Amino acid sequence: MNPFTYGTIVKGDNFYDRTDECSRIVQTLLGGNNLVLYAPRRFGKTSLVFKAIEQLENQGFICVYFDFMPVFSAESFFRLYSKALSAKQSNLQKFAQIFTSVIKSIRPIIKFGQDGMPEFSVDFANTVIDETVISQLLGLPEKIADENHRVLVFFDEFQEVEKLGNINFEGLLRSKIQQQQNVNYLFFGSKTHLLQEMFNSKKRAFYNAASQMTISYLPENETIEYLQQKLSKDNINIDNATAKYLISVAANIPHYIQLLAAEVWQYAVNHIDTITLEIINECAERVLALKSDFYMELFDRQSASKKQLLQTLVIEGKNIFSATYIKRHNLPSIGTLQRAVKGLINDGIIEKINDSYFVADPFFVMFLKKN
Ligand SMILES: Nc1ncnc2c1ncn2[C@@H]1O[C@H](COP(=O)(O)OP(=O)(O)OP(=O)(O)O)[C@@H](O)[C@H]1O
Ligand SMILES: [Mg+2]
Repeated sequence: MNPFTYGTIVKGDNFYDRTDECSRIVQTLLGGNNLVLYAPRRFGKTSLVFKAIEQLENQGFICVYFDFMPVFSAESFFRLYSKALSAKQSNLQKFAQIFTSVIKSIRPIIKFGQDGMPEFSVDFANTVIDETVISQLLGLPEKIADENHRVLVFFDEFQEVEKLGNINFEGLLRSKIQQQQNVNYLFFGSKTHLLQEMFNSKKRAFYNAASQMTISYLPENETIEYLQQKLSKDNINIDNATAKYLISVAANIPHYIQLLAAEVWQYAVNHIDTITLEIINECAERVLALKSDFYMELFDRQSASKKQLLQTLVIEGKNIFSATYIKRHNLPSIGTLQRAVKGLINDGIIEKINDSYFVADPFFVMFLKKN
């Protein structure tokens, strides 16, 4: 089995470091405060939150994880969120009773699933899922909580609430949060700029609603140690300098470090005992070859100004709105440039950290440099 995993939540001994970040999350929620967690894509937010959930569950909290990604309408939110709330209940009958006492117009159903376990679902019949019903549902966590069993709700990809356009979801949730005594929330997601807007703009319902934290790169020394330890189990050596090089090729982004390391392990296992810089390059080329059709299509889809910007961002990403930058790279007007940046950030293709803009996927960077 490949010792490196990517593209999923990592747990157990596939997860390293983030101890301080984890205890910050745990302490904030223990203290009865709400928190918003920012980090660029693929930095390990969801995995970190699952780590914190593990610790909080051990302390007796009812932890409800909810991902907004699959939500596409008020109905789907209702269905999925009520299911997520029910999943943490040991007594579904009791949960159904509480549900009915809060949401009178919708019938709860308990059926036995294929595994013989009872499952909760809802029957809308002719009920319209409007603000009243959504507001009732948002009040449910407080009803299943008590002083000894506080509920913590973890809203992943929270910026996607915008998809519930016809419902003032932010306003409804904010007012519920203010009333709830035994429930706290952690909000996070991969579109940092949208989340920041939600929590930092005075015009928005969530302005100042939560304390804020960010997570950054994993510390290099820990990553080197992790790579060495995992590879050594198959008698593969990697020295510090080579491990450092692997990390730099992956732009130090946790997801891409694991992806490249997985390729390196695959390349070396059973016949190579020492990883070299050439092997790292060869493996990076392999990853690139596998993804190049996808990158080609992604690039082709962009407008001319976005294409031009992508090509210049892989050269330099600082002060991109300055007159010198625009002139040096022969870029379009500042207005067009701003629109291109906004669009590429929204699509998750580029990211901004501090004052620098960069292409998020280091293998796409390689592709752009080559073509
Ligand atoms: N602490 C960690 N230890 C080891 N690997 C990690 C860690 N954090 C992240 N990774 C790697 O990064 C990948 C992405 O992690 P995760 O899905 O938690 O990130 P995310 O920030 O939620 O991503 P997205 O922006 O796509 O939602 C993992 O599959 C794993 O390969
Ligand atoms: Mg995630």
